[in-house]
Amino acid sequence: MKIENITVNYLKQPIGLDEIPEFSWNISSNVNGTYQTSYRVEVYGVWDSGVVNSDNCLFIKYDGKELSPRTRYDFKITVTDNFGNTATAESYFETGLLTYKNFNARWILNFCGDGKRLPVFRKQFKLTQKVKTARIYATALGVYQIDLNGKKVGDGYFAPGYTPAHLDTLYQTYDVTDCLQAENCVCVTVASGWVNGANMTYREDGQNVYDIYRTFALLQLDGVYEDGEEFSVYTDNTWKWFPSPWSLADMYNGETYDAREELPSAYLYGYDESKLNRVLYHSYPYAQIHGAANEQVKKDVELKPVKIFVTEKGERVIDFGQNISGFVKFKVSGKKGDKVIYNHAEVLDKNGNVYVENMRSAKNIIEYTLKGDVVEEFEPHFTFQGFRYVNIIEYPGELKEENFKAYSVRTDYKKTGFFECSNDLVNKLFLNAEWGQADNFVDVPTDCPQRDERMGWTGDAQIFIKTAALNGNVGAFFRKWLKDLALEQAGNGLVFNVVPRVKGEGTSSGWGDAATICPSEIYKAYGDVTILKNQFESMEKWVKFIGTQSTGYLWNSGFHFGDWLGLDASEGSYEGKTDKYLIATAYYAYSTLLTAEAAKVLGYDGKAEKYFNLHNNIVNAYKKEFLDEQSRIKSNKLTQTACAVTLYFDLTDDKKAVCDDLVSLINLNGGKLATGFIGTPYITYSLSRNGRVEEAYDLLLQTEYPSWLYPVLQGATTIWEHWDGIKPNGDFWSADMNSFNHYAYGAIASWLYTDVIGINYKTAGYKTFTVKPLVSKKLKYANGYYECMYGKISSSWRIDGDKVNFKLTVPCNTTCDFIYGDFTKRLSSGSYEFSLDFINA
Ligand code: BGC
Repeated sequence: MKIENITVNYLKQPIGLDEIPEFSWNISSNVNGTYQTSYRVEVYGVWDSGVVNSDNCLFIKYDGKELSPRTRYDFKITVTDNFGNTATAESYFETGLLTYKNFNARWILNFCGDGKRLPVFRKQFKLTQKVKTARIYATALGVYQIDLNGKKVGDGYFAPGYTPAHLDTLYQTYDVTDCLQAENCVCVTVASGWVNGANMTYREDGQNVYDIYRTFALLQLDGVYEDGEEFSVYTDNTWKWFPSPWSLADMYNGETYDAREELPSAYLYGYDESKLNRVLYHSYPYAQIHGAANEQVKKDVELKPVKIFVTEKGERVIDFGQNISGFVKFKVSGKKGDKVIYNHAEVLDKNGNVYVENMRSAKNIIEYTLKGDVVEEFEPHFTFQGFRYVNIIEYPGELKEENFKAYSVRTDYKKTGFFECSNDLVNKLFLNAEWGQADNFVDVPTDCPQRDERMGWTGDAQIFIKTAALNGNVGAFFRKWLKDLALEQAGNGLVFNVVPRVKGEGTSSGWGDAATICPSEIYKAYGDVTILKNQFESMEKWVKFIGTQSTGYLWNSGFHFGDWLGLDASEGSYEGKTDKYLIATAYYAYSTLLTAEAAKVLGYDGKAEKYFNLHNNIVNAYKKEFLDEQSRIKSNKLTQTACAVTLYFDLTDDKKAVCDDLVSLINLNGGKLATGFIGTPYITYSLSRNGRVEEAYDLLLQTEYPSWLYPVLQGATTIWEHWDGIKPNGDFWSADMNSFNHYAYGAIASWLYTDVIGINYKTAGYKTFTVKPLVSKKLKYANGYYECMYGKISSSWRIDGDKVNFKLTVPCNTTCDFIYGDFTKRLSSGSYEFSLDFINA
């Protein structure tokens, strides 16, 4: 038996941790039926949990002496199992500054001076002895890059990340022990990033939403010499600044970089400082600064050009074969003053020309001026684009494939899921959903990565979270984002449509409900009780807010997006036909139920009872208002989405009847969906969980527009915002809102995991779970896995004549119920195979 995957607050050996540590691990063994029977966590010198007779191995909360800042704590985990084996493993975490008060550094900014060019803040310093350890703690209002002795520190991008800066500024911690020498120079370049870049952070009246019109930096390098003496270098008025080669670095508009302005020696010790400029202090507050406890955005996949070609219009285009969030890295040789200029596109139009109208005001242009006479290389530092194609507007010389690469970027969450089956189109759909997630999990869950939006739209996040939490471990990612959701929540409980709240004043059902749905899903996926505890007040506030908008337990007032982009609306409309108050009341019920369940988990029994009662009242009101005497949806409210929501949220006494109606509606619609953002994630569940497995498969496998596979057949490499982003005749839906990388409809991927291969949690974190595959002859086989916090759960089936062969693995310390038809088997850890008679689901 072995201990594996030790994490602290979801992270492996985190440094710069300001939160209370919570230890998780899993055990593995080649002996079937292994369970943990006890654990002991010893954080040397400060805490010993003692031997605890428990099978719990997730989020064991530190309960020892007060932790000191900037300190590495080694710890040991000892585990015993039910066969009497013992295993131990060691790891560590390191605290951050723990409080902003430990920042000696001051916020610095540059004189306007040159004004247009991004500032590089600089400090050179000597060290007198050999360094034992050194860390940089850094943040910025804007996004920063640190260079130490001429080399980039860390491999992250867009630090300090996307938060409502005035409420929650994160700092990152970097181990720079090995980068220091006797003579050093530390530089910080700051770009506007998410704080005051173009487009979204300015209101129509020209005011910045955070009231921040400049960028500034805060950095502290703390180290210890080998003899124990400490040293510290931090931003203060002894720092200098010089203009960088960037005259533009903007999330939406791209970068303009003039290599003729490079000052490489200014990044190194010994540069003549007398020519440099003084810095100013800024009085911006410190109290909102905390250590980041989430993964940074990093480079993910490297792509090579699949084709370079010239369009009908004469555009020179590089096709990278995949729609990504990221940027291009190029090599170029030419004369001083030559330029490389290109913009980005997701798709080509029906004539094969580059299509950028759907980017709206986002320019996405990279402009690089050559210094000349050497081979030059460049990639953007402070911006990313959503693209598959690059349109080369200027480039000296011939375009050669070997001179171009593209990198996708995403939050560096651990990938945890996989699915494949005998249908290649479905496999491509799954990959597209995975890409959609990667491309839109760039520090916050964004709606899209390309146009002038890229915001943390709450509705999109809640719709997709179940899939997200299967594809990857997104616990730390959502802890961060949900904290900001709560920080920005209005006093009356209203949850703004986008978090961080850069635009949009109001809320909507299905959007604000991210406040209850996201923490609940993360809890269920990972067994993370802390997220429920952290968010509980926000959940309650949201439910209370809905109460103020409701009469007679019906949420029947205010603005709602409704079944956004549903196809049963009139041509050109954004909103589906489904009654908005039906959707709103259904979500009122669901949010209340989730809050009740959270209260129960947290041991707030009184509150649990209160919310269960409230839920009951809402459900009764819903039934009265929207259902007829047969518990079916009233005929004037009957839509696919109304059925899906009623079934998924358990709002009828006759599920069979509502499901029959849903099937009739689908049939009437030629076997196709008519659902939008709200109905789509629930529709296959509503069918398969009510005895209509074959109909759910039919919907999944539909290839004609509108369907999940239609874009796949159109060559999509991500999930489209609109079912008809590109219409069958090649026309675009419209330029004003036509993203080809919106993850919302990718929510179908969760159904592949939970219903096709049948992996479902019974209790939080998959401590107990079911594998209940819904086998259909519409596929020959299906195969996949989900790496839960306890280890890997895999499930596959293959039809062989009248038999179905199942294979599954159950991780240690969990219990699985395998179910196929009437066959059920309770399984503890191990690998299993069953060959059973095929039955029609
Ligand atoms: C976004 C969506 C979002 C919607 C709100 C759009 O502009 O891209 O995905 O949820 O607005 O209706």
